[in-house]
Amino acid sequence: MKQTVTSIQKAKGTRKLTMITAYDALFGKLFDEQVDFILVGDSLNMSFSGNKDTLSIGLPEMIYHTNAVCNGAKNTFVICDMPFGTYVDKKTAFKNARKVYRKTNADAIKIEGGKSKAKIIKHLTSNSIAVVGHIGLMPQNVKAEGGYKIKGKDKQNIKSLIKDAIAVEKAGAFLLVVEGVKSEAAEAITDAVSIPVIGIGAGVDTDGQVLVWSDMFGFFEEFKPKFVRQYLDGAKIIKDGLKQYVEDVENKKFPSEDEIY
Ligand code: KIV
Repeated sequence: MKQTVTSIQKAKGTRKLTMITAYDALFGKLFDEQVDFILVGDSLNMSFSGNKDTLSIGLPEMIYHTNAVCNGAKNTFVICDMPFGTYVDKKTAFKNARKVYRKTNADAIKIEGGKSKAKIIKHLTSNSIAVVGHIGLMPQNVKAEGGYKIKGKDKQNIKSLIKDAIAVEKAGAFLLVVEGVKSEAAEAITDAVSIPVIGIGAGVDTDGQVLVWSDMFGFFEEFKPKFVRQYLDGAKIIKDGLKQYVEDVENKKFPSEDEIY
């Protein structure tokens, strides 16, 4: 059954939650009803569009892909990532979140940032937008921080992450993604808030996990982060299939008698 904001919040402490990314209707449909949530992540700018980071994707592209995913995943809670620069202040954030609600069937939006984004999250949630927070390693900070930096390595940083998580919860977010943090930090964050915490590269003690589909199924060959478990060798399966097709065409084995009109 499709999750709701209420059922998601009730799940904390009772079972582990699962999230996967998707960028189109085909995979949205394959993943439909298999996981608790589908995230149309701005990671699509890398794994789908081939760019080197998430920064250059715009709202129209996120809306396009979110629509496609919603068309495929009709029975799953879909979250649309707000791209870099689209929630810099309360007014801009609401205008853009409303656009997502108006133009897609997404159930919620996700924004990166802790304490520094609390006022913006509060403005969104008090105007009926369902918000997912995202703290820890925030890919939209890659240029500002000079790379992708693992967080929660010392007590002071863990305290600061906990403050971020509490600020996001108080601002009304119903779910929190915690990315790229030491597992002790993720556990402390999970214990500190009453909303479910979904981890990626954050150990086993969060309330659930999220992975990027093309990483976990072995389609993204350029780089495999340490935290990814590869459940399939997707690239090999596709390449083997394609090789067979080329051979069949070249040897006049395709199409056969059964495959013609
Ligand atoms: O963009 C994305 O796919 C994400 C996940 C990695 C959490 O934000």
